[in-house]
Amino acid sequence: MDALKPKVLIARRAPAAVVEKLSAHFDVDAVQGDGVLTPDELLARLQGKAGAYITGTERITGELLDACPELRAVCTMSVGYNHIDLAACTARRVLVTNTPDVLTETTADFGFALLMATARRMSEGERLLRDGGWKSWSWDFLAGSDVYSSTLGILGMGRIGQAIARRGRFGFGMKVVYHNRSRLPAEAEAELGARYLTKEELLRQADHLVLVLPYSAQSHHCIAAAEIALMKPTATLINVARGGIVDEDALAAALREQRIAAAGLDVFEGEPRVNPALLTLPNVVLTPHIASATMPTRLAMAGLAADNLVAALTGATPPTSLNPEVLPL
Ligand code: DGY
Repeated sequence: MDALKPKVLIARRAPAAVVEKLSAHFDVDAVQGDGVLTPDELLARLQGKAGAYITGTERITGELLDACPELRAVCTMSVGYNHIDLAACTARRVLVTNTPDVLTETTADFGFALLMATARRMSEGERLLRDGGWKSWSWDFLAGSDVYSSTLGILGMGRIGQAIARRGRFGFGMKVVYHNRSRLPAEAEAELGARYLTKEELLRQADHLVLVLPYSAQSHHCIAAAEIALMKPTATLINVARGGIVDEDALAAALREQRIAAAGLDVFEGEPRVNPALLTLPNVVLTPHIASATMPTRLAMAGLAADNLVAALTGATPPTSLNPEVLPL
């Protein structure tokens, strides 16, 4: 403990290099073990702290900020920041950072892997094989849908959406269509060979629809029964964004009734709890929020979050601030 150093909380178990880096600058209180602090525990541990190194599992609300008046910087080891009330932070001059870019290609790899696994029924096949259900070959045994040359629909054409589009277009000869809040510049569309569509038209045309948009009040359940009804019965739906974007009950019903062919989900509305309606369906691939989980990428995210925190509390410009109007201390 060093009375002269600002105090910071590392709210989740972090790589040793992060603890070391932050300890060189700050008086560090690091959570040990893999538990998640409850909101009350988080509030208690943040007392007297100037900075917080968090992940997507810690919610930062206006109420919490009011109870932690010394907090000046919140640095999340995630690109998504829907767990942080950014407006409340900015209003209280609390600097917020996230970790974009360093996870783009890794997350796009996983999005594509999930698409492939879903379209080609890989999990279903593996389960069947392990359960002793592989009896012989037949012409339509586990027949899925083609990825090569099909139409890739992307909802949310940010950095990760564009990286997935590149994989589809250049790796698999796919036709790329997309919808986004704002249309890409013409050169970017040309480079990706991507055609902008209304959301409804995107739903109608996509053979494989990948959700990569940020989660917010506006995108909550933006894929629900009405949207799923527009999709092709042969379509697959992939979600590597946030669970709350999809109405999981509506999706489970559509999968059960085969109104769409299959889904691949890496994120869930109540994660780590998974909607039980999804768990029993054969035509859904379920993974536990691991799209950015490679060791190099997770270390890069952790390192960037730590660099942001050091900068925010030592008067330097944080590399990836979400509210640059809030100046570092
Ligand atoms: C992110 O970075 O937002 C990933 O979903 C991991 O939390």
